Amino acid sequence: MRTLVFAIIIGFFVGCSGPDKTTTLSPRDAFIDSLLSEMTIEEKIGQMSQSTGSWETTGPIIADSSTLDLVRTGRLGSFLNVFGAERTRKAQEIAVNGSRLGIPLIFGYDMIHGYATTFPIPLAEAASWDLELIKKSAAITALEASAAGLHWNFAPMVDIARDPRWGRIMEGAGEDPWWGSQVAIARVRGYQGNDLKSLSTIAATAKHFAGYGAAEGGRDYNTTEISEHTLRDVYLVPFQAAAKAGVAAFMNGFNDLNGTPATANKFLVRQILKKEWDWKGLVVSDWASVQELTDHGFAATDSEAAGLALEAGCDMEMVSKTYDEYLIDLVQQHPEYLPMIDDATLRILGVKYDLGLFEDPFRYSDLQREKQIVRNNDHFKHAREIAKRSIVLLENRNRTLPLDPNLRKIAVIGPLAEDRETALGTWSAQGQQSDVTPLLQGIQLAVGEKTKVLYAAGSEINSTDKSGFNKARALAKQSDAIIAVVGEHALMSGEALSRSDIGLPGVQLDLLKMLKETGKPVIVVLMNGRPIAEPWMYENCDAVLETWLLGVQSGPAIADVIFGSYNPAGKLPVTIPRSVGQIPIYYNHKNTGRAADPADRYTSKYIDEAFVPQYPFGYGLSYTTFEYGELTLDKPAFHRGDSLSVSVVLTNSGSVAGEEVVQLYVRDLFGSVTRPVLELKNFEKVLLNAGESHLVKFKIKAEDLSFWDKNMAFRSETGQFKVFVGSNSATQLQQEFELLD
Ligand code: BGC
Repeated sequence: MRTLVFAIIIGFFVGCSGPDKTTTLSPRDAFIDSLLSEMTIEEKIGQMSQSTGSWETTGPIIADSSTLDLVRTGRLGSFLNVFGAERTRKAQEIAVNGSRLGIPLIFGYDMIHGYATTFPIPLAEAASWDLELIKKSAAITALEASAAGLHWNFAPMVDIARDPRWGRIMEGAGEDPWWGSQVAIARVRGYQGNDLKSLSTIAATAKHFAGYGAAEGGRDYNTTEISEHTLRDVYLVPFQAAAKAGVAAFMNGFNDLNGTPATANKFLVRQILKKEWDWKGLVVSDWASVQELTDHGFAATDSEAAGLALEAGCDMEMVSKTYDEYLIDLVQQHPEYLPMIDDATLRILGVKYDLGLFEDPFRYSDLQREKQIVRNNDHFKHAREIAKRSIVLLENRNRTLPLDPNLRKIAVIGPLAEDRETALGTWSAQGQQSDVTPLLQGIQLAVGEKTKVLYAAGSEINSTDKSGFNKARALAKQSDAIIAVVGEHALMSGEALSRSDIGLPGVQLDLLKMLKETGKPVIVVLMNGRPIAEPWMYENCDAVLETWLLGVQSGPAIADVIFGSYNPAGKLPVTIPRSVGQIPIYYNHKNTGRAADPADRYTSKYIDEAFVPQYPFGYGLSYTTFEYGELTLDKPAFHRGDSLSVSVVLTNSGSVAGEEVVQLYVRDLFGSVTRPVLELKNFEKVLLNAGESHLVKFKIKAEDLSFWDKNMAFRSETGQFKVFVGSNSATQLQQEFELLD
């Protein structure tokens, strides 16, 4: 019957002609406008409310029948954490056939790095510098999710993270706004494709708007203080890129931003997102973040919280129920809330329309499709491909790597070698440990028949117990090489998983020191969701591979790199500090009036720690070597409207083929507001055979040099600049140029 109502509405608009308002609206807007005009205020607020499902061992359920009654009475428009073709269909039937207007539900879920096929954590993928593959991971996630009845992903997280203590650094693309934007665009396009109506795409969410990654002390949910310049020049950049790429939804942050919680921040949501950026999608709160406005001390009551969030432009309330409970009464006192409620409802109906839910609300809940698509072999192949490309070779003393797969004996030591849960990483959605090939197995599959792989855990991840050291030592001594698999457990990074010490947990460093004493080459395979500060490890072990948390194909992918069937090319999307005391440490900092100078005490340094990091942003080695020729500019100066051409010859000077991520940075030498010492503006990933050379060319335009000036206008300023090109952000290969009017 409901379908009939929609058919009549659609038919009416298709049949309309003449210069009235309806003909100037797109069919989409005409449809949702008309639907809105049929809705009661309760039904509108219902669309603005989202409930969570809960779990039983068999999967997600809607345990409580009163929640389903809300759907029936039109007082609930969305669920999170309800998935699976069968379950979503059941709930959808209630909405479509059991409620007055039959408006379909929208089902959202967190699929941060895959639905059931788990890919590397987002920070790891960002180290691949391969936007096509990143997009493909997102597209596969969407394909699997859409087959399981889901419509909406709470990803990508595009928060800039300059503090590795913050556990959620694993969820984003690292510290750089430009790179973060490229990755954000790739992910949005991957999830959403060209058409949300397609059966294989889902709506994406840019989160957490905004500044959430700047939590003081790296402590999750903590307060943030960010100047408007830094907000606009750094933290908002990937959000704006996602908005431009057409992301369907935004999610508020939990954080207090400069005295106003993000969920009630009119300046962020109404002014910047909805007005300046003219973005038309839907804003969802974070989990109960509307109600938490009272905990922030920003709202005295839940009712006030509802009003403040609505005023600020939060369209849908996740989990807490303040909209449902209070908005109706609030409207009596605040008639100005009515158009805000209408606008929020239209935004939500708009996304449902774009997904094709009004045409066929059950189209995504298809058991047959779910069986065929979810966790299929091609998805696992891609998981291996992106995983190996996400690995960063941090050290390779005396060319320890790659290892000969025909060594007599290899000792695999370390608590993470067999750990399937950690390979999956946190936020692993429906990823299953039984699907994981852990590293020990990956190595066993990669070595020759005559090679013996000996294994001992040595220690646990986070304990003081060294009783396993003796066995580990004995195995190590008999072997030709030691692969030491150490790092953090999956549940040491992610939400509410901040650390104050970002070294190796437990006795793992002692384990490495003991292994090193055997005199055998020690190859460290580091598994972690954040940068690990452990100078001794980096400075003494023979090789170090940063492998993050790589997903279902973790083992085979790492083995591909260890034994050289893939030459690693990953580059750090985040600085690795030497110690917690250096944090925050990021490459695009300001110069200060006294830039660090080892020879001058009165400069910006520490007396007990270096001022440089362990590894700079953009860093990563290869099994081959690359040489950069002279950096050439086509002219010393260029006018706005024109561009500058920058070129360099890159040569693979080693003996094997390899890829290099050539990075271009600029520095604005003087500005009306002080400028960072470096800013990434472009890159090219180049594959070269041994001995081969390639001319790498970049263009710089005035827009690449723009920033928020002293009058808060986004523009470039004429004057002197430097351009740097190289294999990481510490490159010294540079030229100067001028931007003219
Ligand atoms: C997180 C969000 C997530 C939401 C729903 C919150 O705790 O901050 O990122 O999307 O839960 O699961």
